[in-house]
Order: sequence, then structure tokens, then C-alpha cells
Amino acid sequence: MGFPILIQAPLSGYTDSPFRKIVKDYGVDVVYSEMISSAGIVRQQEKTLSLAYFTKEERPIFLQLFGAESEIMKDAASIVAERFSPDGIDINMGCPVKKVVKSGAGAALLRNTTIVREIVKKVKSVIKCPLSVKIRSGWDEDKSLEIAKVIEDAGADIIAIHPRTREQFFSETADWKVLKNVKSRIKIPVIGNGNVQSPYQAKTLYEYSGVDGIMIGRASLRKPYIFSSIKHYFEKGIPLLVNNEEIFHIVEKYVNYECTYRGEGRALKYTRKMIIQLLKGRKNSHRVKNEIFKIDNKVALLKILRREFSDDRIESSILRN
Ligand SMILES: Cc1cc2nc3c(=O)[nH]c(=O)nc-3n(C[C@H](O)[C@H](O)[C@H](O)COP(=O)(O)O)c2cc1C
Repeated sequence: MGFPILIQAPLSGYTDSPFRKIVKDYGVDVVYSEMISSAGIVRQQEKTLSLAYFTKEERPIFLQLFGAESEIMKDAASIVAERFSPDGIDINMGCPVKKVVKSGAGAALLRNTTIVREIVKKVKSVIKCPLSVKIRSGWDEDKSLEIAKVIEDAGADIIAIHPRTREQFFSETADWKVLKNVKSRIKIPVIGNGNVQSPYQAKTLYEYSGVDGIMIGRASLRKPYIFSSIKHYFEKGIPLLVNNEEIFHIVEKYVNYECTYRGEGRALKYTRKMIIQLLKGRKNSHRVKNEIFKIDNKVALLKILRREFSDDRIESSILRN
């Protein structure tokens, strides 16, 4: 039946250049940037532009733009394509956060297929690279098929679907029936996303829905090696197990990349969130978290992490689910 393409989901505040390099080392096929404000790009704001930065090791990479106005989205896409030459551009039509939907962007776009069509058409007209659109299944009810058809018809090359409505936020489980339904009714490749936490679930979703790609978000923070593990499972029938030594190696590399990227002071703050995710479910994780929050240098941080990942335990959470 072949293999799905494995994709790192955009995760605002996490999937920056250093994180993407880590998952690239662990089997991911394509990475997405976190969402980038189209208005900030057009205004040439340094901080916004810095979110579009990536290195060649991260390719293939899609840069994700969000916004509410088609002209601004078009101009931002054109600037980003020219300045950074990403392998693709993605339009965010799924962000449920109040501040974003209040401005008419993210999932708010799903309420109006006229604006969906307009944005896709205009962005597509100014870029040469592939265009993907990442949606939720609708605003307060499932409109995924109707929206997907508009997106396909307007010229997008790929559609990524997180099958929850905006109203659902992250409650309930993602409805994979939506993925199967859309996949069977449109021609462009469909990427399925939502609640994939293990190699078993990846295979179940792939076989059930026939999606072309599987996009993983939160589970990649707890298990950045999940993509390698999924590939191993598809190829050999058993997931790849990772021992503590390897997990320490991953987090050490990540901290080092972040220190180079942001400078040590900022990196120590930034990496905490991801480290907490990695420690989730481990013994003493609360105490270790408190220790990490007091640390003010990289050497001390790595010493704590070395201690926590010192036994030769195998990380078996990959076997759950
Ligand atoms: C902390 C966080 C940040 C997110 N940031 C983005 C984002 O910038 N752009 C986007 O399209 N989706 C974003 N999402 C949604 C994810 O890409 C994904 O669709 C969702 O988490 C469901 O997939 P999962 O169950 O594999 O995590 C974010 C989700 C979380 C939890």
C-alpha cells in the first residue's frame, strides 16, 4: 500500500528552525514553519521575517502564512517566495485562537468560501512553488468537503486537514471520517492530521483513510523521533524504540542548536517548553521542571538532563495507543 509522506505540523512557539532540524534527523519528510503574519511580512517587520528563516538542511519546507485579507496575503506570499525560496507556501485556515479569529484570519476564514477562494487564487497567482492550505473541518459544523472543493478548484496543490471544527478547539478526538471522505472526493493530495501519537495510529489512519500524508503536531514534541519510529514500523512491522541515551542526545543537540540560534539566555527560556514535553510522564518530572526553571546556563541545564536520562531505560511510550 506504500508509505504516507510524514510531515511536521506547524506549532507556534515550538517548530522553529532548530526544532525542525531535529525532526529532520529523525525521519520527517516535510516540515512546516509556524504561522507567520502576512501583515507583518508586508510591513517588513524584522521579528515576523525572522520566523520565515530556515537552513538548507530543513528542506523541503513550507512557510505558513496567516491573515484575513487576500491582497495582503498575496503580497506576503510574493515577498516570502522571493526572499526565502521555500519549497512551498501554506495558508493557515485553521487557527482557533481568539485573537486570530477576531481579526478574520485562521479558522474564521472557513465561514466564508468566497474569501477562501479569493485568497487561494490570489496567492497561487504570484508563486511558483506548491501551495497548500491547512484547514479545520469547519467553523461550528463539518463543511470540510465543500471547503476542500473550493480550495482545489481555486488552484491549491495540497490540502491539510485537522478534522475538528473551530468550536471544538482541541476537545474530543479528531474525526478521521472527515479525512476519508474528503480524500475520496477530491483529486489533490490530502494530508491527514489530528491525534496521531504512535506508529500504530499512523498506520491505522493511513489504511483507513487513504490520505497521502500524515501530519503530526503535539506528539512530535514528546517524541521528536516519532517519524523514524513510524517509518520503521511501516517497513519492519515493529516501531523503533529509543533509549534514554538517544533521547539525551536529541535534547542536547536541540539545546545547542537553540543557543546558537537565539543566544544562550533566550534559548534557555525558549527550550523549557519543549523539555517539559519530553519529560512528561517520567519519574520526578515536576521536580526536574522546577530545577530547570532556575537554571541560568547551558552547562547546568545539560547536567540535569544528563542525570535524568542516565539509565538505559528504553522509551516505551511509543508502544502505547
Ligand atoms: C501549541 C500549538 C501551536 C500550534 N500552532 C499552529 C500554527 O502555527 N499553525 C497551524 O496551522 N496549526 C497550529 N497548531 C495546530 C497543529 O498544527 C495541529 O493541527 C493540531 O495540533 C492537531 O494535530 P496533533 O493532534 O498531531 O497535535 C498548533 C497546535 C498547538 C498545540
